[in-house]
Amino acid sequence: MFEQIQEGNATVNVPAEKKISKDLPVFYNPIMKLNRDVSVDLLKTVKKDLQVGLPLAGTGVRAARFLTELKNIKLIAINDLSSDAVDLIRKNLNLNKNKIKCKDVTISNEDANKFLLNSKGFDYIDIDPFGSPNNFLENSIRRLAREGILAVTATDTGAMSGTFPKACVRKYWAKPLRNELMHEIGIRILIRKVQLMGVQNDRALIPILSYSKDHYFRIFFRCEKGKEKADNIIKQHSYLLYCPKCLNRELSKFNSGECSCGKEYDFAGPLYNGDLQDKKVLKKVKNEFVQSLYKENETPFFYDIHAFAKSMKLATVGKTIEILEKVRKKDKKATLTHFRENSIKTKLSVNEFKKILKNK
Ligand SMILES: C[S@@+](CC[C@H](N)C(=O)[O-])C[C@H]1O[C@@H](n2cnc3c(N)ncnc32)[C@H](O)[C@@H]1O
Repeated sequence: MFEQIQEGNATVNVPAEKKISKDLPVFYNPIMKLNRDVSVDLLKTVKKDLQVGLPLAGTGVRAARFLTELKNIKLIAINDLSSDAVDLIRKNLNLNKNKIKCKDVTISNEDANKFLLNSKGFDYIDIDPFGSPNNFLENSIRRLAREGILAVTATDTGAMSGTFPKACVRKYWAKPLRNELMHEIGIRILIRKVQLMGVQNDRALIPILSYSKDHYFRIFFRCEKGKEKADNIIKQHSYLLYCPKCLNRELSKFNSGECSCGKEYDFAGPLYNGDLQDKKVLKKVKNEFVQSLYKENETPFFYDIHAFAKSMKLATVGKTIEILEKVRKKDKKATLTHFRENSIKTKLSVNEFKKILKNK
């Protein structure tokens, strides 16, 4: 059973079932509207005609939105392994045909890797799988044009956020940590993995827009080519050392060490420790959520007020917004973070932050 819905400018038929699972006849998740909104709003800022590849297109809702909301689509190739999905994609594009101007639209029913390898290449590729993007990274990167954008969604956040540490080591070649930093650690582990897939072919994948939300991580990378650029990416990989006792942390080339409090550090990584956003790009994206990311401080990791209160055995702490104001007196760039509630991104040291919590 299907129902007709409107998402953005597109009218699409989607499964009527309200329980979202892989077993839907064709996969559609209304929660991912924001994921699609952000893609549309980001691509609106690109000042050139785009050749777009959607290897895992599902109902075609993203394709229908691109075709009805973007003016810069020169070519779009839409693919899904499921023949039911492909039938629905055809119907959904037909439903919107009066709003579609692009003449170069193809729909195919192949494995995503075959689709990518048989293509001539794209300026934008969107990997939106069930679970891990791993299987599709290598061929997407191969088929990405210079200055092209690779969009990656991962819904297997449990691995990268420390629920399944062995899976994380196997699939993402890094150790996660299950603590208050887990989502930022997870997305940085994923970024490094994608970058490693790129550098082996002299491609630098630079994150331009990254976030963690609901059950998924999402990163848009700009692809630059050249050995030096690839080498510069590797320089931004390190470990995060984390003291479970006093919550001190530092970025390090090594995965062990002693905290100044005397306790042995635990560690996460290797992970990417560079900027998660390209603020010049974000500034132009007309999307409320993206604008909140634009305002977020770029310092890697953050201080979770409640985790500190617990570790310092403080009976009470003030309101988050009041603590933020106090932090801002010393670091006016300090902000909250989308990674976690009651948490502050700041360049202040752990000890300076603790003094503020103690009201000293
Ligand atoms: C999460 S859904 C895609 C959702 C869609 N991009 C959207 O925005 O609504 C993942 C899709 O990948 C398809 N798929 C899974 N394995 C595939 C493969 N190896 N090659 C191509 N498509 C595949 C599934 O049939 C499913 O439609």
